[in-house]
Amino acid sequence: MSHHLLTVDSLNRESVDHLLRVAARMEPIAQRRQVTRVLEGAVLGNLFFEASTRTRVSFNAAFCRLGGSVCDTTGFTFSSMAKGESLYDTSRVMSGYCDAIVMRHPDQGSVAEFAAATNVPVINGGDGPGEHPSQALLDLYTIDKEFQRLGKSLSGAHILLTGDLKYGRTVHSLIKLLSLYDPLRITLVSPPGLEMPSKLIDLVASRGHRIEQRDSLASDFADLDVVYTTRIQKERFTDEMNESFQGLSDDFMVNRDFLDHRCSQSTIVMHPLPRDSRPGANDLNLDLNGDPRLAIFRQTDNGIPMRMAIFATLLNVDKLIEQDLRPVRWYVPSQIGTLDR
Ligand code: ASP
Ligand code: CP
Repeated sequence: MSHHLLTVDSLNRESVDHLLRVAARMEPIAQRRQVTRVLEGAVLGNLFFEASTRTRVSFNAAFCRLGGSVCDTTGFTFSSMAKGESLYDTSRVMSGYCDAIVMRHPDQGSVAEFAAATNVPVINGGDGPGEHPSQALLDLYTIDKEFQRLGKSLSGAHILLTGDLKYGRTVHSLIKLLSLYDPLRITLVSPPGLEMPSKLIDLVASRGHRIEQRDSLASDFADLDVVYTTRIQKERFTDEMNESFQGLSDDFMVNRDFLDHRCSQSTIVMHPLPRDSRPGANDLNLDLNGDPRLAIFRQTDNGIPMRMAIFATLLNVDKLIEQDLRPVRWYVPSQIGTLDR
């Protein structure tokens, strides 16, 4: 694994399996049963130039749970990029202050450009329609945990990726990550014009996976293990696309009816979130709330151990965790959510 995490291309099967193992060791800390101080004194720079809830807060919380502290800036307005400062200068400056940097930026390739100016580990928290490698890692960690619970194996699994596969950076990283594993069956369903880039389809097919494109969800998915649905990334649309796009039709809607009638009792539903809950959006219907097949909040919870694993590995403290554990002393509720677990 390189000392940055900019794309899943820098990972191989061995480094991914290592991160999955380290994330599993982080669970007692993520679940607030134990504490560690292995990153005591270390400082994270969290730079977010695009909207975020999960990635920004969970990277922040993961670093704090390892004993480090966090400095951040949010949006261009409150950084000196608003005064015309380059990515290069910003990177060099931040490297003098921080031991690791997470960055999200609207331009594809910008986080790599930023990382080229520093030796401090940089993690891509999402670069435009490019990649979102930590999301893909936590998605894979979720699939692995859910499959263990259900007694399933990833080998030969059938995974459906649906929604905006053109601009959705999470699926770009996830499909490449999945392609490192034993042959899978991957089905892609997206509205016209929002298909998965062909170079990613070719790459995955060249690694021996069975990949199929369908133009709607109105068919049989009885052997489906995972449906991974995504939000339409309207913020990346051209004006022309914005005018012509009418919203998601019923043919692309993941809801209880789809799950009950076209899938099976053991199909799990994932989404990187946020799901768009405004009228007409419907990338993931609210009628699945409370259904145990809905794994979206287990998925967000898994962001903490996986992001802790990423920091611990990049900063070389992954082998120190066990030596440094203590029980927590504050009150922790026995279950975090109410409806969805
Ligand atoms: N939160 C994810 C991302 O930033 C997915 C999304 O926004 O739809 O890529
Ligand atoms: N999944 C994800 O990246 O969420 P945010 O955009 O809220 O960070």
